[in-house]
Amino acid sequence: MKKILWVIFAFFAIGVGLYPLLFVLQDMSTTGLIGGKSQELVQGFWMVAFYIHIFLGGISLLVGWSQFSSKLRKRRLKLHRILGKIYVIAVSLSGLAGLYISFFADGGPIAQWGFTFLALAWLTTTTLAYISVRQGQITHHQKWMIRSYALTFAAVTLRMYIPLFLMLTDLAFIDSYRIIAWLCWVPNLLVAEWIIYKQKSLTLAAN
Ligand code: HEM
Repeated sequence: MKKILWVIFAFFAIGVGLYPLLFVLQDMSTTGLIGGKSQELVQGFWMVAFYIHIFLGGISLLVGWSQFSSKLRKRRLKLHRILGKIYVIAVSLSGLAGLYISFFADGGPIAQWGFTFLALAWLTTTTLAYISVRQGQITHHQKWMIRSYALTFAAVTLRMYIPLFLMLTDLAFIDSYRIIAWLCWVPNLLVAEWIIYKQKSLTLAAN
C-alpha cells in the first residue's frame, strides 16, 4: 500500500513538474492563461516572472518528492543535500516570481489573495526548513519540509480540481478558479499537519 502511494505521489509530481515544458514545445502565446492576459502584461516584466515561476516551480516539484525517501537520505546523504539546495533555490525564485504574478491572477481579489497567501506560506515554510537544518534541528527541518512540499503540491491539486469542478459543478470557470485558488493549498497544509502528527505518534509508540 505504501509503495502504491509512493508511485502515485511520484507520478503526479513528475507529470505536473514536466508540464511547464509545454510552454516551450508548443505555442501557448494565444491560448490558455497567456492568451487571456493583456498585451501590457505579456510584453512586460510579468512574462519574465511567469517563466521564472513555472520553470523553477517545475524543478521544485521534480526534485522535492525524492527527498522524503529515507533510503535516499541514508544511502546518499550528499545527493540529498545537493537536491535540497536545488529545491530551496528553485522554491525561493519561483515563490518570489509567483508572489509577483499573483497580483495579476485571473479571478480578481479572491483568487489573487489565495495565490498571494500561498506564495507567502511557500516561501516561509521553505525558509524555516532551510534555517532549521542549518541549525542542526533535523526534526524541525523534516516538519517544515513536509509543509513546504505540501504547498509545492498545490500545483498538482490545482490541476486536479479544475477538471473535477468542470465535470461535477455548474459553476462558471472563473468562479471555480476563485475557489480553487484557496482549495488547492489549504487542505494540503491540513494533510501535512496530519502526516506530522502521525509521525510523532509513531515515534512515541516506538520509544
Ligand atoms: C506553491 C506556490 C505557487 C504559487 C503561489 C503559484 C502561483 C501562480 C499564479 C498566480 C499563476 C498565474 C495565475 C493567473 O494569472 O491566473 C500560476 C500559473 C502557473 N503556475 Fe504556479 N504557483 C505555485 C506553484 C507552482 C508550481 C510548483 C508549479 C510547477 C509546475 C507551477 C506552475 C505553474 C504553471 C505551469 C502556470 C500556468 C498556468 C496554466 O496555464 O495552467 N506553479 N501560478
